[in-house]
Amino acid sequence: MSQEFVSVLKTKDLESGKMKSVSFGNDVVCVINLGGNFYAINNVCTHEGGPLDEGTLDGFEVECPWHGARFDIRTGEVKAPPAEQPVSTYQIKIQGDEILIRRQPKN
Ligand code: FES
Repeated sequence: MSQEFVSVLKTKDLESGKMKSVSFGNDVVCVINLGGNFYAINNVCTHEGGPLDEGTLDGFEVECPWHGARFDIRTGEVKAPPAEQPVSTYQIKIQGDEILIRRQPKN
């Protein structure tokens, strides 16, 4: 699997405070603009698969629209149940007006 950064979205298409889902290989990734800083986490809630981009952004936490689990957008960590497993995070790079992401390298 390629570890290259891939352009998924333009910065102008994602306003601050907004989230948007994009396809990235076989993954659906939620890209988030929080005050001009960009984050990317897997879009599929680890509880029962709720679409996180349709949830609510509250500071550094996103709340799943289905049953209210919360995840930290910086780390993918669970902040509130019923989810128990973290969501994956992706590395972000801004190049010109493009948002690029790639998988976190495996250690
Ligand atoms: S599917 Fe996200 S909290 Fe249940």
